[in-house]
Amino acid sequence: MLYQLLRPALFLLDAEAAHGLSLAALKAMPFGALPPADGPLATTVAGLSFPNPLGMAAGFDKNGEVPDALLRLGFGFAEVGSITPLPQSGNPRPRLFRLAEDHGVINRMGFNNGGAQAAVARLARRAGRPGIVGINIGANKDSADRSADYATMARLMAPLASYLAVNVSSPNTPGLRALQDESALTALLDAVLDARGRGGPPVFLKVAPDLEPADIDAIARIAIDKQLGALIVSNTTISRPPLQSANAHEAGGLSGAPLRDLAQQRLRDFRTATGGAVPLIGVGGIATAEDAWARIRAGADLVQLYSAMAYAGPGIARKITRGLVKLMRRDGFSSIAEAVGSE
Ligand code: FNR
Repeated sequence: MLYQLLRPALFLLDAEAAHGLSLAALKAMPFGALPPADGPLATTVAGLSFPNPLGMAAGFDKNGEVPDALLRLGFGFAEVGSITPLPQSGNPRPRLFRLAEDHGVINRMGFNNGGAQAAVARLARRAGRPGIVGINIGANKDSADRSADYATMARLMAPLASYLAVNVSSPNTPGLRALQDESALTALLDAVLDARGRGGPPVFLKVAPDLEPADIDAIARIAIDKQLGALIVSNTTISRPPLQSANAHEAGGLSGAPLRDLAQQRLRDFRTATGGAVPLIGVGGIATAEDAWARIRAGADLVQLYSAMAYAGPGIARKITRGLVKLMRRDGFSSIAEAVGSE
């Protein structure tokens, strides 16, 4: 409600400045309790117990500054990052654009983040607190050996993460998405799994929506073979469905409502390709409880969002989780796990 009043003023600001204000507000404001661990939406995925299936996607909290505040907003988990070994400033501004008429976002941030050392220090201060906090890892743009970057990040972050998310799908680091190719991906994941060590957190892999059927089959095979904890489907798209907004021509990855149908279709594709053998996290264009429910029924064990928070405000997590309880009961399911893939 309050956010609906503030939004016009926030939308007068450049999108990145508005995002900075949101982070500052989350750091400063006291929030309620964490979602209860044993509520009606509780679900277990990759050995982790989630209070509800809705997470904040990577990119909102790139430096791991506000994971606990996000959990107190009602998110069942928070994914921080992407974090790279060395700090980097990313692409020149402006690099974040609202597509207000489309309820979308285009970004070409380029992995701007404070680097591993600062993140380790910050996240170590919250170690031992309750709540599922995943750490999304990336490679530096100028790295001579990107695979080694992921291994370094897995080693440094494993002790601090509920799960590691390997992001090989950002469209804003040139060449990064080639790491989704079969032989590169196999080598990369071997290095990450080795660096994570025995007894470390589960490893999730985040993929692009812009994949051919043969890529999807290969990635699914690798995910099964390497016993990944989950596939996160998907990152932003470089495709451009029909759009209304003046910013539609900006370069970068598109997210929010215009990504929804593509991300939902990719989720189904991965469900088919994995045969349900690997948990899936559905992300892309989820803005309502109905969207989240449709993604779960299409095969998502968990869901995430980012762009919709800019349009709906910080109450979105509670709104969606309350709505999910109603939809679950309406359709006669007694748990989220029971509904996964039931469409
Ligand atoms: C992102 N996303 C993202 N993903 C990732 O793995 N690492 C990252 O650093 C970022 N950074 C980032 C910045 C901005 C400004 C946006 C909008 C998005 C992608 C994000 O996690 C998600 O996959 C997509 O945005 C699709 O979900 P929504 O936004 O449609 O709910």
